[in-house]
Amino acid sequence: MLAIGSDHGGFELKNIIINYLESEKICYKDFGTCSLAAVDYSDIGLDVAKAVASGEFQAGIVICGTGIGISIAANKVPGIRAALCTNSFMARMAKEHNNANILALGGRVIGSELALEIVKTFIHTPFSGESRHQARIDKIKKVEETYFTKE
Ligand code: RB5
Repeated sequence: MLAIGSDHGGFELKNIIINYLESEKICYKDFGTCSLAAVDYSDIGLDVAKAVASGEFQAGIVICGTGIGISIAANKVPGIRAALCTNSFMARMAKEHNNANILALGGRVIGSELALEIVKTFIHTPFSGESRHQARIDKIKKVEETYFTKE
């Protein structure tokens, strides 16, 4: 199950992605926002990230105007590897090498066709599982253990 959320800057692209998920019968939960009224990307990004980190959702998609703010927020949650992608190659690498569990997109940066290609790549590409990549991810986990304390 996918968790998806956006601020107002990503609202229109979120709707396009949700239409795609529904057409493919991919289960998702929409964490908002539900209109073009301004909201804080930090709130939505953290809600999606917490939902993914809890294990209730396998992966997430977060969208703001640039994808920058919402990916920064999501990456503050331990266990989250949010990748801001602007092309399909980045999405493939984000999964194969980084085992990203959240895809971040910029609704004001990329067009809808490209965004859907990126989403498809993110959803369908597995982590390579290679030990060199896992070792690097493990080093990031150690950083989380050192600097992040539980609420
Ligand atoms: C909102 O105007 C905009 O700042 C936000 O969507 C995002 O681009 C922030 O990184």
